[in-house]
Amino acid sequence: MKIISVCLILCWALFTNANNFSAIRIYSNLAEVIRTVDKLPLEFTNEEWRDIRSDSLWIFGKNVTVTSQTVSEKRKLMDGAKIYIRSPLSSEKNGIQLIKAVLVDEKRDLVKVEDPSIATNEPLYFTVRKEDMYRIDEPLEPKFTVNFTYTNPEKTQLFLSYLQSNIVWKTQYRLALYDDFSDLSAMASISNNGESPISVDQGELISGDINLEISNLQFDPPLRKPRLSEMKFFAFSDDSDIAATESVPPSVGQSHELAGLYVFPINKPFSVDVKSTYILSMFHPKTTIDRYGFISKSFSTQLTQGKAQRAYRLRSDRFLSEGSCMIREHDRIVGQTTIPNLAAKDKYEFAIGEDVDIVYKENVKLVSSKQFNETNSIIINPNVQQDSLRKSVEITLRTRFVYEIHLEIENFKNRPVKVEYEQNGFFAYQSIKMLQTNKHHFIQESSTIKSNMTIPSQKKQSFIYSLELLK
Ligand SMILES: *[C@@H]1O[C@H](CO)[C@@H](O)[C@H](O)[C@H]1NC(C)=O
Ligand SMILES: *[C@@H]1O[C@H](CO)[C@@H](O)[C@H](O)[C@H]1NC(C)=O
Ligand SMILES: *[C@@H]1O[C@H](CO)[C@@H](O)[C@H](O)[C@H]1NC(C)=O
Ligand SMILES: *[C@@H]1O[C@H](CO)[C@@H](O)[C@H](O)[C@H]1NC(C)=O
Ligand SMILES: *[C@@H]1O[C@H](CO)[C@@H](O)[C@H](O)[C@H]1NC(C)=O
Repeated sequence: MKIISVCLILCWALFTNANNFSAIRIYSNLAEVIRTVDKLPLEFTNEEWRDIRSDSLWIFGKNVTVTSQTVSEKRKLMDGAKIYIRSPLSSEKNGIQLIKAVLVDEKRDLVKVEDPSIATNEPLYFTVRKEDMYRIDEPLEPKFTVNFTYTNPEKTQLFLSYLQSNIVWKTQYRLALYDDFSDLSAMASISNNGESPISVDQGELISGDINLEISNLQFDPPLRKPRLSEMKFFAFSDDSDIAATESVPPSVGQSHELAGLYVFPINKPFSVDVKSTYILSMFHPKTTIDRYGFISKSFSTQLTQGKAQRAYRLRSDRFLSEGSCMIREHDRIVGQTTIPNLAAKDKYEFAIGEDVDIVYKENVKLVSSKQFNETNSIIINPNVQQDSLRKSVEITLRTRFVYEIHLEIENFKNRPVKVEYEQNGFFAYQSIKMLQTNKHHFIQESSTIKSNMTIPSQKKQSFIYSLELLK
């Protein structure tokens, strides 16, 4: 906070003198570019323009008030250019014959013949198909120009900001697990999918659930006052003196929370070439990992059997932004997962495949079943006083089952394993209730039955619990 408020003034003073400064804030699907403006109008090539959200273009500065904005497409006018046209006498057999001409009106494809071989007293005009015109100078790409009118009484530095869809970033993780320690490393992968390289003095990566749209809104620029957030942007250059150590690549600093999003500053100027991905190291959070065999099954009155999943429970001491994660145990890749946006200390549970060494079998015994009539009175005519006319009684035939569940888990490993068991999928039943169990601790959490157990090495263990189910 201290840095922000000091810099709010200092950095402005600084950057009002520096007249060539650029910064970028990169989101998961687009980026906001901010740079100094030295002259108007601004020009963009067709390629640059394709990646820009035109309704996001904006200039701002201290005491600058924008009064209007115009966007126009400027083509190089070809009218009056000397060209060749394909002679109407050209054919497959005779080959292409060209005639000298002048392009009179490009829109109407109107040309005027100026060829010594065609001697006429009157000027000869006619229209030609585009593919029969041959240009002498290379036609230029269309350019887009954006201009603003504004007042700037103090002649302060102008800044331009816009959203660009070709620069994106994502987090990539590597989780290395050993018997007694784990290491999660996060990397930022910044991609430039566009046609022009980017090079900025300052950058930030922003993560979280943000609903920015890539495509243009209807083009209707609101005339707005400079926003405070724009002014504050320059506040994050707290590591700018690190830039002196040129040989060290840029890295991503500690994140700070901002309205439910997380902002990661990049500590140095950086560039990303055309169609390239740039990977920066981010951080190594302190993590705790539980490994367990996960048995999650649907209730069935038939015999069921299967294997436990290789499951993990991950907690980090700091916010993790969504990203893919490669998991290694003792340096071998054992699977991959996608970590969601995860708050510090919150847990993320995931499974990456079967564990052949943890096998379960479950048998269900029907202990009793009893039918009964459930009566519900339903109101059919609310305007009548007399009860017997107002209400009607609905009778439903129900069955109450009591089942005994016999679970058997076998561990083929040479070490004890932790197993977490979940039974769900009671869709066919109105309600479920766990009856008292002896010996082992099973619990009911809404309509899931859960238990944690440790199975000794090379052992088979049995568990029994009872359920009352209403159909
Ligand atoms: C601004 O700086 C960038 C890179 O630092 C450079 O490519 C560009 O030419 C500079 N522009 C001006 C107007 O000095
Ligand atoms: C510029 O803005 C400041 C405060 O934002 C204000 O006090 C000052 O009068 C403004 N100057 C002009 C010339 O408008
Ligand atoms: C762009 O705007 C500036 C002032 O805002 C003006 O001086 C200039 O003539 C404009 N240029 C074009 C091409 O409209
Ligand atoms: C439920 O009610 C029906 C008549 O509505 C009756 O025939 C049946 O025997 C009852 N069943 C039980 C289990 O009470
Ligand atoms: C099983 O252990 C995990 C991790 O300690 C815990 O979150 C969960 O509540 C436990 N479940 C039961 C049923 O005790």
